[in-house]
Amino acid sequence: MILVTGASRGIGYATSVSLAKKKERVLALARSSDALEKLQNEHSRRIHIQTCDLMNLASVQLLVDYIREHRIQLTGVVHNAGALINKPFSELTDDDWMHMWNANVMTAVRLVRAVLPFMTKKSHIVTIGSMGGFQGSAKFPGLLAYSTSKGALSTWTECMAKELEKENISVNCLCLGAVQTEMLNLAFPGLKAPLKPDDIAEFISDFVINGHRFMNGKILPVALSNP
Ligand SMILES: NC(=O)c1ccc[n+]([C@@H]2O[C@H](COP(=O)([O-])OP(=O)(O)OC[C@H]3O[C@@H](n4cnc5c(N)ncnc54)[C@H](OP(=O)(O)O)[C@@H]3O)[C@@H](O)[C@H]2O)c1
Repeated sequence: MILVTGASRGIGYATSVSLAKKKERVLALARSSDALEKLQNEHSRRIHIQTCDLMNLASVQLLVDYIREHRIQLTGVVHNAGALINKPFSELTDDDWMHMWNANVMTAVRLVRAVLPFMTKKSHIVTIGSMGGFQGSAKFPGLLAYSTSKGALSTWTECMAKELEKENISVNCLCLGAVQTEMLNLAFPGLKAPLKPDDIAEFISDFVINGHRFMNGKILPVALSNP
């Protein structure tokens, strides 16, 4: 089974559907239970859902209980959940900064710590980074808390690949360019992206299934445009 976080909308929703169409079983996570139920109703045979707030330890523990109870073994994880604050440096509060690090970095830490015991040998963890956090890419005013947290997620991915090498688990990061979602509209209001969630979901689902046969510990730019 492949676990997908941030599955209630946007890229995570589309990735869950794409994996199901490729005949994978999916464990789809997010906080919005209504949206998860809609996802499951549309693709009920292969998609299992679990409400989970990755910023809340008790909620993550419930996820662990669910996985244990259902004897789930994970061959892949797509950690796609994330959040974005668009504010200039002078207006960003400590709480804003902490929120970005919690939503975009600590969610990955908590998730992988929780699900590691249920991952099979030769499984693949894919983190969803951003071109904003890719070294040397174009940077934009207002997105510095988001982009630095995504940069940290990329480096975390490289470090985790080393940590998990001995367990035969691969970890790679996909740094996405613009995809038409609610988050993109928050970052760049009115921008028309060259890709829709379904388009990028095709790539992500193929990559989580096969990418680790060819690479480990890599940070890959996956962008037609930035933004
Ligand atoms: N769209 C782009 O152009 C773009 C570009 C580069 C990178 N990305 C990255 O791609 C990923 C998906 O982006 P998107 O555009 O699809 O964003 P989105 O539409 O805002 O979706 C974000 C998802 O994350 C979930 N989420 C947020 N906080 C969570 C938490 N604490 N616990 C569990 N789930 C949580 C949300 O679900 P709930 O609210 O239901 O929990 C939602 O399903 C993000 O990591 C984003 O940074 C997007």
